[in-house]
Amino acid sequence: MQKRLLSGIKPTGEIHIGNYFGAMRQFLELQDEYESFIFIADYHAFNQIQDPKELKANILEIAKAYLAIGLNPEKVLLFKQSDVSAVTELAWIFNCITPMAELERAHAYKDAKAKGKPINMGLFTYPILMAADILLYKSEVVPVGQDQKQHLEMAQDMAKKFNRLFGNTFKIPQELILKDAAVIPGLDGQKMSKSYKNTIGLFDEPRIVIKKTRSIKTDSRGASEPKDPATCNVFALHRLFSNKEEIKKLEGRYRNGKISYQESKDMLAERINDFLAPIRTKKAELDMNPAYVTDILEQGQIKANALAIKTLAEIKEKIGIS
Ligand code: ADP
Ligand code: TRP
Repeated sequence: MQKRLLSGIKPTGEIHIGNYFGAMRQFLELQDEYESFIFIADYHAFNQIQDPKELKANILEIAKAYLAIGLNPEKVLLFKQSDVSAVTELAWIFNCITPMAELERAHAYKDAKAKGKPINMGLFTYPILMAADILLYKSEVVPVGQDQKQHLEMAQDMAKKFNRLFGNTFKIPQELILKDAAVIPGLDGQKMSKSYKNTIGLFDEPRIVIKKTRSIKTDSRGASEPKDPATCNVFALHRLFSNKEEIKKLEGRYRNGKISYQESKDMLAERINDFLAPIRTKKAELDMNPAYVTDILEQGQIKANALAIKTLAEIKEKIGIS
């Protein structure tokens, strides 16, 4: 029997190549090997996006992104987090067995607090809902980017604690983090992220990709000066789009001062555009057929609910509420 894989992305804005290489590429590569559950974390997004029109549009964009990159809805269960209400019930159960001190250690909460940002309870208990997402379906592997590692550890802790208190119920989920794509840099060299507005979007038009790659931050070395590939953001992105041999050649040109940043950036834009072309085409097809997309989510929620209801009943029985 195949192991179960689960992952999700929050519909908080445009999907970018950091999401693709950090997380989504794994969904794609592993869809034949695992029984895959891929969802849209809309309740997590509600934490940040409280404009109904925007949230609705973002949800549809993620669904299309999953399909446009090539997830096969015949194999992968695609659904919306909020369509399975058992998940918020399970989150409540985990709320009751998790000390506040543990949540106070979460990076996302600590960062928001350090920056003096407003913090709602949804942000504070974010890792609880995420653990519920994972454990409700008894998932075994969870492909994500490096920034989600702590959340995964918290989910593992909750699974262990529940098993200890109420008897063996959950498998301990393992994170799958790709070492070579753990943190993709953005245009400014920080982690590529929707929140930093430093992204290259999965659906960006060719001329936007060219414009954005030209704006990638570099040092001021001239065309014939030797350059360090290890510290260059442009080079870091080349690694995602070129094969080993091409990278080796480019590395030589960098070290020997045989390429300008401008040329390297334009080469990169071309590579990215070649890569994005089929994704854009598929997305345009999906834009013409929104009913196809919502139908897939509808089918997904039926199957996800059937499983979720079973697990929740088992859990309620174990905790004495049945
Ligand atoms: P963002 O930081 O843009 O808001 P999300 O938090 O929605 O992105 O991330 C969705 C998935 O993509 C997660 O698994 C996350 O780890 C991964 N991811 C996001 N940005 C990057 C990045 N720059 N490099 C690698 N993985 C990333
Ligand atoms: N927190 C994840 C992110 O920001 C999204 C997410 C929610 C998730 N629930 C999950 C990822 C469960 C994997 C498994 O990207």
